[in-house]
Amino acid sequence: MRSMAQNYDAGSLRAALTLRASLLGPARTRMLTEVELVRAGQVLHGRPERLAVYGVPAPQMIRRGLRLLGRTAVECSVDDSCAAVTTALCAYLADARELSPGFVADLFCGSGNLGRHVGTGLGLPVFAAELDPDVYAATRHNFEVMGIDVNLRHTDYRDLLAGLPPPREGDVHLVEPPWGSAYTERGLDLTVTSPPVPEILAAIRASRAGVPCVVVSQVAVVGPEDAVTLPTLARCFADARHLTVIRPPSPFPDEATVEFHVYALPG
Ligand SMILES: C[S@@+](CC[C@H](N)C(=O)[O-])C[C@H]1O[C@@H](n2cnc3c(N)ncnc32)[C@H](O)[C@@H]1O
Repeated sequence: MRSMAQNYDAGSLRAALTLRASLLGPARTRMLTEVELVRAGQVLHGRPERLAVYGVPAPQMIRRGLRLLGRTAVECSVDDSCAAVTTALCAYLADARELSPGFVADLFCGSGNLGRHVGTGLGLPVFAAELDPDVYAATRHNFEVMGIDVNLRHTDYRDLLAGLPPPREGDVHLVEPPWGSAYTERGLDLTVTSPPVPEILAAIRASRAGVPCVVVSQVAVVGPEDAVTLPTLARCFADARHLTVIRPPSPFPDEATVEFHVYALPG
């Protein structure tokens, strides 16, 4: 398995974009095989083991009984990134003693990996929404296999917001909608994701009766020429306070990097 993986074109952004298109296209809702998972880890993350969710690296997923669909292999936040985001949130909340968060809301949960990491790290219950029936079924199965305690619903994020416990200051909302056509070689335009980030932030605020919260949002910066991603992020969060940014190591540091931005969203 390892020697096969080494044949893949690791470190090539072109190879990554080609594989990404295939996993988001024909293989979108198909469960990946072990060979495909190893390949996805190698090509998208530089090493098979870096594609890891719930503490299980790609080469072990099938043996451990996990199911990852094509789209989720691309869209998931991997363990290393989730751990870094969780560490940053723990540090912020340890300092901000006036806050007393009551939950983590994973509004677009996909694999549910980010919500699970953050909820475990902060010791908070996690409420998660996933709209795609195939992703939902795979994630529910994976949670059962791994004994993960997340309140997962097959629903739209707005229904999840409507059914959350009473808001407390510092509740954490994870905002990772599908990028779709918002992601091009020019950058990621967060105003046209599906759904658009401004619409999601308005729905969060409407659900919170004036109580502020923390929001985590992921972006992809497409090289030093990218004049789209960070300006649209700043526009979407114009009235929020930027708390920190987490930049996990990228296999394509000069061409494409993922960043997680953490904001304090006013009520
Ligand atoms: C970028 S992925 C999220 C990745 C996730 N953070 C993870 O670690 O796997 C976005 C997910 O949101 C789901 N989704 C799209 N629209 C939705 C909606 N209106 N409500 C809830 N989930 C939605 C998609 O099916 C997809 O699985």
